[in-house]
Amino acid sequence: MFGKKDKTAQAAASATDDAATTSGYPPLSGDTKIKDWLAHPQGGPVLRRTLAEAGQDASQAKPVQGFAMKRLIPMSKGQFSEEKIAELVAMAEAYDPASADQEPAEASAQATVEEDETIELPDFEEKVTEGRFSGKTIIVTGAGSGIGRATASRVAREGGRVIAVDLNETGLDEFIGEHPSLDIVKVVANITRQEDVDAIVAAAGEVIDGLANIAGIMDNMTPLHEVSDEMWDKVMAVNATGLFKLSRAVIPLMLERHAGSIVNITSEAGLRGSAAGLAYTASKHAVVGITKSSAFIYGPQGLRINAVAPGPVITGIQASFDSPMAAKRIQTAMAVLPTPVGPESLAASIAFLLSDDGHNINGVILPSDGGWSAV
Ligand SMILES: NC(=O)c1ccc[n+]([C@@H]2O[C@H](COP(=O)([O-])OP(=O)(O)OC[C@H]3O[C@@H](n4cnc5c(N)ncnc54)[C@H](O)[C@@H]3O)[C@@H](O)[C@H]2O)c1
Repeated sequence: MFGKKDKTAQAAASATDDAATTSGYPPLSGDTKIKDWLAHPQGGPVLRRTLAEAGQDASQAKPVQGFAMKRLIPMSKGQFSEEKIAELVAMAEAYDPASADQEPAEASAQATVEEDETIELPDFEEKVTEGRFSGKTIIVTGAGSGIGRATASRVAREGGRVIAVDLNETGLDEFIGEHPSLDIVKVVANITRQEDVDAIVAAAGEVIDGLANIAGIMDNMTPLHEVSDEMWDKVMAVNATGLFKLSRAVIPLMLERHAGSIVNITSEAGLRGSAAGLAYTASKHAVVGITKSSAFIYGPQGLRINAVAPGPVITGIQASFDSPMAAKRIQTAMAVLPTPVGPESLAASIAFLLSDDGHNINGVILPSDGGWSAV
């Protein structure tokens, strides 16, 4: 789990190997699932204390309880790191469970995330299709984080030349640093600005085989009468206008060759009214409209335009509930929320539609949501 250079981390890990023999529990590390950390007599109190210091408790870790601790690193936008895991491991090693005054009784009573009837299913494992994107140039927006990064990674590992686009240069650098031998072109760009859109297309060159419009932002969950002009403009600018501008620049090149696949990212909020605030819901319905209109118009020209509607995915996306009225209402619809997945589960759906495996599919809005939209 730890990089070779990380001596602190290695020391902490080996110290924990010794601890395993004394506590009888498997050693804690970045590969340990969150729920196993919480159930551990030393790891549990340390993790709960750390969560409490961040104003959280174990119940908030429930959506990610089946994730290995290290999976939180790319999702945390720099707030969590291998060093932090090493620190937690070292603190757990130093913790003496026999010392009753170290953790209040009520805290240790919530020693684990509350178990429910959920059957524990195996984690999704990517099966890379060697060469599926060989010889193809694919633009991926939002490649600095979350679903965009996982998609860019999948396409590049399957042989594609990826034009990795994001506002966030640090995220792009991290992503490219993870894949030094792959064909990835970094473009720091804001998709809402025409000059940046032009720069993205220039970086791609004359032949663009695919475009994954993934960059997007959430709103603050406000209902129509509480939406500020700023929130409306910001969300529509990125989720709808940016996607539109980049597609408008790419489609003429695809039309020249009568070939090309575009995958737009909508959301559950593009399928119904109960998954987000008004601005985000409107923007993601706009994505559905852009997808269907384009699929209808350009299908006979050899282009395919589809959309993926993700359910809950653990990424760096930020949302706030700024309206008590909407929060109360929306939370009733969250009662049947499926277990969140990692971004690579969405990358699998997006890569399928982008690739020639999706050759007979045009104009679909594909929910990739564990069945949430079937409720
Ligand atoms: N995470 C979920 O549960 C979820 C659910 C449904 C839909 N989605 C959609 O999936 C897409 C990806 O979201 P994510 O969850 O991976 O979020 P994320 O925040 O991890 O990644 C989004 C990326 O888009 C980039 N970005 C934002 N505005 C940009 C702009 N103007 N120009 C260029 N890049 C920009 C951000 O810098 C970020 O790196 C979004 O369209 C989002 O609406 C996410």
